[in-house]
Amino acid sequence: MSEISLSTVEPENRERPVILKTEATRAIEADAEIQALSHDELIEGIQRLRKERDAVILAHNYEIGPIQDIADFVGDSLQLSQQAAATNASRIVFCGVYFMAETAAILSPDKQVLIPDNEAGCSLAAMATAAEVRRWREKHPGAIIVAYVNTSAEVKAEVDYCCTSSNAVKVVASIPADKEILFLPDFFLGLYIQRMTGRKLHLWMGECHVHAGIRPDDIHTMWKKYPEADLVLHPECGCVSQCMLSIADGDLPAEKTHVLSTGGMVQYAKNSTAKATLVGTEVGMLHRMRKENPNTEFIPLKRDAICEYMKTITIPKLYRSLRDLTYEVRVPEPTATRARAAIERMMQHL
Ligand code: 13P
Ligand code: SF4
Repeated sequence: MSEISLSTVEPENRERPVILKTEATRAIEADAEIQALSHDELIEGIQRLRKERDAVILAHNYEIGPIQDIADFVGDSLQLSQQAAATNASRIVFCGVYFMAETAAILSPDKQVLIPDNEAGCSLAAMATAAEVRRWREKHPGAIIVAYVNTSAEVKAEVDYCCTSSNAVKVVASIPADKEILFLPDFFLGLYIQRMTGRKLHLWMGECHVHAGIRPDDIHTMWKKYPEADLVLHPECGCVSQCMLSIADGDLPAEKTHVLSTGGMVQYAKNSTAKATLVGTEVGMLHRMRKENPNTEFIPLKRDAICEYMKTITIPKLYRSLRDLTYEVRVPEPTATRARAAIERMMQHL
């Protein structure tokens, strides 16, 4: 491993947060009013309540179609942070995972931030704790720590910079060349950044269970089936570094392969003239791509690449969130102030 990175660290905990039946799901099942409403009535109720509550609804690109369709804004992590920081609404209902809602709360401390299911976690964010990051810093005094935004607010409070998949390369490239850099928690994104910047990093060996499962074999199998297709890949995928090596060796066509954030994939879809495109990321992404460009056939690279945390946000839960103001996301001081400094450095590299 030392050939490709300066050093690696294994997370202490690789257990994914379990999603069985969440408290929000149980509350919906026991809610006589919600149970009596049809889907259309719930949608009407959301339209009424969003005005009464002066709420803006933000949704990530992996949310289920009906949530994306009713949101005021759908985007990637960076775009959603920008929207959260800029909104004039008194409330933000965040349809995404918990760390994203926390980031919104940090950026808009005067707004009420709600998440319709507060057990919408992230397997990647769960792989690094603040205590582990402090110990890592102690081993590398003087180093700069860059954390992917898929981390808890406590971890963000320990680091120098945050970044998302759409600006990770820019953030790392902006750091003076003589500085040692520690990058966490996504190992595959770290490898991608190294390749793109030519910088060697110390890497945390965390991974997202959805993206780590997208392997080079999936590309080879699907490209055999759809030889004309373009390929878009999220940099968290377990196949990205192999894929980039294959491009460098001429085994995969560079002009047809694009490594993109989810927001980059939307942009790609808008401009694409390809007949077909293989999409290597969570399958919720296809909803937006198909909507943006009905002329291209968008095909999931892996049909079971599903993030159960994103999918836990549903229309009945969104209705309840607006009606009952559940679940409020707050980041206590001084964690919020320290985390905000790292997030604001991320926002300088758009
Ligand atoms: P994006 O920043 O590309 O939206 O990615 C977020 C994420 O959680 C990917 O799994
Ligand atoms: Fe986290 Fe992976 Fe889900 Fe993204 S797809 S929110 S990284 S578990």
